[in-house]
Amino acid sequence: MRLRNDPNAKSTIQENKDLVLEMENTDQIIFSELFQNTGPIHLEIGMGKGDFLIETAIQNPDINFLGIEKALPVIAIALKKINDLDFKPKNIKLIWGNMEKLFDKLPLNSIDKIYLNFSDPWPKKKHIKRRLTFDNFLINYQKILILKKGTLQIKTDNNDLYFYSLNNLKRHNWVINYYTTDIYSQNDIFLKNNIATEYEIKFRNKNKNINAILSKVPI
Ligand SMILES: C[S@@+](CC[C@H](N)C(=O)[O-])C[C@H]1O[C@@H](n2cnc3c(N)ncnc32)[C@H](O)[C@@H]1O
Repeated sequence: MRLRNDPNAKSTIQENKDLVLEMENTDQIIFSELFQNTGPIHLEIGMGKGDFLIETAIQNPDINFLGIEKALPVIAIALKKINDLDFKPKNIKLIWGNMEKLFDKLPLNSIDKIYLNFSDPWPKKKHIKRRLTFDNFLINYQKILILKKGTLQIKTDNNDLYFYSLNNLKRHNWVINYYTTDIYSQNDIFLKNNIATEYEIKFRNKNKNINAILSKVPI
């Protein structure tokens, strides 16, 4: 996602310390302190400008949502969107930084659900390790997700990333609860609770099929 540099983005982060953590200045995250409650935790990795995270959090006030995004101008836009709401939801927190550095800071067995929405596809074979469903990421997701019941939900326009992810999840013994190459096909059950992301809307408008996978940690 390329955005023109926003000279105020860093100060936007610093002015919103109640809402956003900086990866570099964060040690261990204690969710009960972060959210001031002990509710379930959902994590969106690569949340972009936050449309999905914000809408999902508004619709699910009893769930705590943590979004991570590495691009500073992008997360600054998400912050602005949250601040512009009439009623600022207490169940959203953001973290600015690279998700690769997040795993050591999260408690094991603590997250109910992880969302990967329209992750960068990294189509070249030499970049396979950067795909967010590459082996080491799946192993880390498994560690932070709640034992036996934590779930990973993936949506992508990229067919190759979809098939790669499906195969790699199976190879790592994840339970595949649901998969489709087209959530918008007639009567798809996934659509009933679907909240479209910014990229999803863009691809839908170009009539691109939207793939999805819902999987659960290996038992
Ligand atoms: C293609 S955009 C999708 C944005 C949003 N999820 C959506 O569906 O509209 C991918 C986003 O993931 C972020 N991203 C990619 N790799 C990341 C990483 N390692 N850590 C944190 N964010 C990352 C990018 O900066 C970008 O904003």
